[in-house]
Amino acid sequence: MRVLLTGGAGYIGSHTLVELLALGHQVCVVDNYANSAPEALTRVRQISNRDFRVEEGDIRDRDRLTAIFTDFRPEAVIHFAGLKAVGEGEEKPVAYYDTNVTGTLVLLEAMRASGCGKIIFSSSATVYGNPLYLPYDEAHPCSPTNVYGRTKYMAEQVLADWVRANPGTGAVLLRYFNPVGAHVSGRIGEDPQGIPNNLLPFIAQVAVGRRAKLAIFGDDYDTRDGTGLRDYIHVADLARAHALALDYAADHTGTEVFNIGTGTGTTVKEMLAAFERACGHALAYEVVARRPGDIAACYAQPEKAERLLGWSATRDLDDMCASAWKWQSENPQGYRSEE
Ligand code: NAD
Ligand code: UD1
Repeated sequence: MRVLLTGGAGYIGSHTLVELLALGHQVCVVDNYANSAPEALTRVRQISNRDFRVEEGDIRDRDRLTAIFTDFRPEAVIHFAGLKAVGEGEEKPVAYYDTNVTGTLVLLEAMRASGCGKIIFSSSATVYGNPLYLPYDEAHPCSPTNVYGRTKYMAEQVLADWVRANPGTGAVLLRYFNPVGAHVSGRIGEDPQGIPNNLLPFIAQVAVGRRAKLAIFGDDYDTRDGTGLRDYIHVADLARAHALALDYAADHTGTEVFNIGTGTGTTVKEMLAAFERACGHALAYEVVARRPGDIAACYAQPEKAERLLGWSATRDLDDMCASAWKWQSENPQGYRSEE
């Protein structure tokens, strides 16, 4: 299939690209490198030994996007491009709505102009907001508690309305839980700029000596050891979910939402212990105050993805930590040392 990936140079996009190339898809990446580096794509070429098209550009650039679409004529789009830092979204709401919502609107126009009717969208478990019950299933009400989550939920609704108005089109909305880990080669991985917001990249930087210790945000939650519990999903499993979603979209019209998680939760302390096993040494930490806005626990009911996509997670916590450690230890400064 001819597939266009917005944000394909990013963390999840680059891993999905490897998966799609291995399956023989023809791919075009559109990325403005706002939060990524061309080096990631160079490495994808090395890993996969296949070439693909790359267009440096902003998804909000209507003329450019339409020109790329009318030339490449994708049969489907996987829409990863977006801004994703929760704290930054509170400070720069307009930038977040512009990239995540306006960017999606411009993309849909380019799709229409080129006759492309199938889209897979990177959504997030954050659209659910505070849990009314756990695990979250896809019927759980959506009430996002931050700007980032609202932009994602708005984009979901835009896509569903577009599909309703355009018979024959289809959207697959994937609500990711907590993507972590790296490609087994250690050549590509998550490369956050500045201080990592998320747990696993922070732990990895402690392990490699870039940071002194992990701050555990609260140990008085109602969980088995008092620390926050999340549903971590290996990025390679997540990449495979996109390939299966493409197959599903090819055969179906309408909008379908899927949770992409393992269905089990891991606490901060359990994750720290798993990473210590992977890197082979103890990691320093201190318990500090809760992070504002955090919830005690968040995990998926992933049964629908198994039933309709034939997808379930196959990699465990040790795979996640071993691959994250390989990436971090072999690329202590991420992609930057190569540029
Ligand atoms: P990422 O920042 O690594 O990748 C996003 C990519 O989009 C980057 O390469 C960036 O340069 C590009 N981009 C940003 N704005 C753009 C624009 N205007 N035009 C063109 N390209 C642009 O993030 P990721 O972790 O790979 O996430 C991918 C998607 O998945 C995002 O939409 C994110 O909201 C969603 N998501 C991520 C997580 C997570 O924890 N990583 C969880 C749930 C959902
Ligand atoms: C965060 C985002 C969420 C996004 C998700 C994707 C916030 C408030 N939420 O959620 O929107 O969809 O990432 O991966 O940012 N922790 C520490 N110390 C740290 C970092 C994290 O103790 O330095 C704890 C947190 O309190 C939490 C757990 O680790 O209990 C996981 O945190 P994180 O990786 O930031 O993910 P989420 O909180 O699930």
